Amino acid sequence: MTALAVENLSVRYGAVEAVRKLSLEVKPGEIVGLIGPNGAGKSSTLHAIMGAAPVTGGDVRLDGRSLIGRRPEDVARRGVALVPEGRRIFGELTVDENLRLGLAARRARRNGHGLDRAYDLFPVLGEFRSRQAGVLSGGQQQQLAIGRALVSEPDYLLLDEPSLGLAPKIVDVVFEALAKIRHAGLAVLLVEQRAQRTVALADRSHVLANGELRLTLGPQDAGDTDRLVAAYLA
Ligand SMILES: Nc1ncnc2c1ncn2[C@@H]1O[C@H](COP(=O)(O)OP(=O)(O)OP(=O)(O)O)[C@@H](O)[C@H]1O
Ligand SMILES: [Mg+2]
Repeated sequence: MTALAVENLSVRYGAVEAVRKLSLEVKPGEIVGLIGPNGAGKSSTLHAIMGAAPVTGGDVRLDGRSLIGRRPEDVARRGVALVPEGRRIFGELTVDENLRLGLAARRARRNGHGLDRAYDLFPVLGEFRSRQAGVLSGGQQQQLAIGRALVSEPDYLLLDEPSLGLAPKIVDVVFEALAKIRHAGLAVLLVEQRAQRTVALADRSHVLANGELRLTLGPQDAGDTDRLVAAYLA
């Protein structure tokens, strides 16, 4: 029962059916990838899980209990954290102040372990802990955004294109961090444009197009990702 389960989920914005009867599941210690072209419904799926998109059908269950109709703060308090696209850090606040904002997202188990974990995982945040976040590079800000989510000690971490716009070296830092986060027993749902790397890392990766799940790939498919995705989306 310990899982985040999306069951026959549909999301609609007016005339646009962004997600159509999508089912997937992520369990502790797993990374599940969500890849697919622009407008496929990847972000809408994450927002629907958080209670921030118009769900028109299906269910989202956390350890068996439905999250539908709950507010995003309530979903966060139950142990689901979203690192949204575009990072949304507070440039006027210091790195440490940004991280501590994560403490407010969860009521239970606030003992500071999450803060230690964020600093352990991303040493650059410790180096710059008293600096204004606005002066950090894009890659450092992304590490800060992921770190802030970890401070809330989530069981389920949702990431929306964490490698967007990052230099290759920093992409490595982010992907290595995700592997460590999985190793620590968290469940990760990873939306990414870097399809091949995602397929190589994730336990399974679902290819979405037009709001529908078209194909599921495993790490053994990584070398063949582009060909398989192109063939299925043709
Ligand atoms: N708030 C919104 N209002 C209206 N339409 C929306 C809204 N958010 C998304 N859409 C539409 O829903 C569809 C799915 O969008 P979504 O952002 O989920 O896709 P995505 O897979 O995350 O794409 P991208 O790779 O560009 O981030 C698109 O047609 C998009 O235009
Ligand atoms: Mg998106």
